[in-house]
Amino acid sequence: MVSRSDTPQDTVALVPAAGRGERLGPGAPKSLRHLGGEPLVVHAVRRLAAARSVAAVVVAAPPGAADLVHDLLAPVITTAELLVVEGGGTRQASVAAALAAAPGHCDVVLVHDAARALAPPELADAVAAAVRAGHPAVVPVLPVVDTVRQLGPDGVVSSTVDRELLRLVQTPQGFARAVLAEAHAACDDSLTDDAGLVERLGLPVHTVPGHPNALKVTRPFDLVVASAVLASESAMAGSRV
Ligand code: CTP
Ligand code: MG
Repeated sequence: MVSRSDTPQDTVALVPAAGRGERLGPGAPKSLRHLGGEPLVVHAVRRLAAARSVAAVVVAAPPGAADLVHDLLAPVITTAELLVVEGGGTRQASVAAALAAAPGHCDVVLVHDAARALAPPELADAVAAAVRAGHPAVVPVLPVVDTVRQLGPDGVVSSTVDRELLRLVQTPQGFARAVLAEAHAACDDSLTDDAGLVERLGLPVHTVPGHPNALKVTRPFDLVVASAVLASESAMAGSRV
C-alpha cells in the first residue's frame, strides 16, 4: 500500500466557490448549499485535503463570505494549509484570485470546482501525478454514453457526431504552475475551464480517466444524484467497519 509519505506534497488545490448557483434556483450561493447536512464547499475541500499530494487548499469564496467559509473549513482541514480569498465576478477571475494567493512552494496546481463536491481524493492524486510526470495540463474525462446530434440554425438535426471522439471534461484539472499562470495572463474571460486557456496557448492537454462521483451540481436534480452518491459512500464505509 502507498503511504502518504511516498507521494510528494507538492500540490496546491484552488477551489472556485464564488458562484451564485443561479441554475440551482433561489437560495444561498451554491457552494454554501447543503448536501447531507454540510455545505458543498466543505465536502469538496475535505476530499481535496485528503489527497496525498495536496499540501495547501485556496478557496475563492462568495463575495463577503470569506470569513464564514474559513470558519466552516478550519475545523475540517487538518492535513493541508488552508487559505480563503474572495472570488471574482467570473469563474476565471475567482481562479486568478486563488492563484495569486497560492503558496510559492507548490509546483503543481489543481483547479477544482466546489460544485463537484464529491470528487474522490484519488482523482486529485491521479491528476497531480500526471502533471508531475511532465504533462503541462491534465483533465479527467468520461466517455459520452448518449447519442449526440448536431442541429442546424433551424433546430433540425443536421448531423450525428461520432461520440467515440468526444469526452466530458471534469475537475480537478491539473497544471504546471507556470503554465496556468501564463494561460491566465494571456486570455480573456470567455471559457468555462482552465484547460481551455492552456489549449489556446497551443499546449497539449493530457487526459486521465474521470470519476462518476465528480459530477457537477448544477441543477436541483444533480443534488438528488449527489445525495444518493453520498449515501452509497456512507453505506460502503459502514460495511467496511
Ligand atoms: N465560480 C466562481 N466564481 C464565479 C462563478 C463561478 O468561483 N464568479 C465557481 C462556482 O462556485 C463553481 C464553479 O465555478 O464551483 C463552476 O461554476 P458553475 O457550476 O457555473 O457555478 P455557478 O456559477 O455558481 O452556477 P450558475 O452558473 O448556475 O450560476
Ligand atoms: Mg456559472
